[in-house]
Amino acid sequence: MPGVFQLPVEEVVDEARRVQDLGLQAILLFGIPAEKDEQASGAYAENGVVQEALRAIKSKCPELVAITDVCLCEYMSHGHCGVTRIDGDHFHVLNDETVELLVKTALSHAAAGADMVAPSDMMDGRIGAIREALDANGFDQIGIMSYAAKFASSFYGPFREAAESPPQFGDRRSYQMDSANADEALREVALDINEGADIVMVKPALPYIDVLWRVRERFGKPTAVYHVSGEYAMVKAAAEKAILDERAAVLEIMTALKRAGADIIVTYWACELAQWLCEQKS
Ligand code: PBG
Ligand code: ZN
Repeated sequence: MPGVFQLPVEEVVDEARRVQDLGLQAILLFGIPAEKDEQASGAYAENGVVQEALRAIKSKCPELVAITDVCLCEYMSHGHCGVTRIDGDHFHVLNDETVELLVKTALSHAAAGADMVAPSDMMDGRIGAIREALDANGFDQIGIMSYAAKFASSFYGPFREAAESPPQFGDRRSYQMDSANADEALREVALDINEGADIVMVKPALPYIDVLWRVRERFGKPTAVYHVSGEYAMVKAAAEKAILDERAAVLEIMTALKRAGADIIVTYWACELAQWLCEQKS
């Protein structure tokens, strides 16, 4: 992904400072472990890469809101978001076994200083299970941003490269949503709200802008949208070929997302956007 890099823990604090100085309020952390296995142990290890990064960031930038991606795919040798079982030539993602590991992961992030956890796996019942475990362990102040309407999408490709997490077999269609189905998305969002989500997210962004609008209108909850890697890479590639003016295109896209009801935008342009908006004001 152009302009997007994996950072070692030693460098993450400088990046956090830079982000804070630009006026951004929150970051979303993803981890890539040294070793992957079939239990995603790196996801909930006390000295895991996200846990270490959180401690480092929180000791130097306590005001910066630290949100963590809670999923297993980056930590699994097979690249799926959950525990899998293979039966002949079929594979299953085991929902409840996965939820247990997601709960462990969320708790370990909270213990390391996360302000909010963001489950991106799409298993059933994980929001309720995480909420209950956080409350029972003294983390009732830790919020949950749920990837509530996450579609199976071709726009995740560059992220999977960057995070070294493409599925080694099969695809994610058994647990991510069908892009043709808007009603299912609304049902998923309602479930997550009932289970205790503080913020609900729609992902990807532009191809699902109708869903974003409906979620914001129907539930009136703080609503986030994730402008994903493929959407980002597309504009970058066009800009490189001088087909588009990057800054103008990005401002137009972000304005559209706000217009469609986004309270929060997750974007790989966050730093540049903050700079551009600051220049516009002065
Ligand atoms: C993992 C996860 C993905 C993204 C965020 N968290 C990839 C996936 O589901 O394959 C995508 C982010 C992007 O494409 O920018 N659960
Ligand atoms: Zn995942």
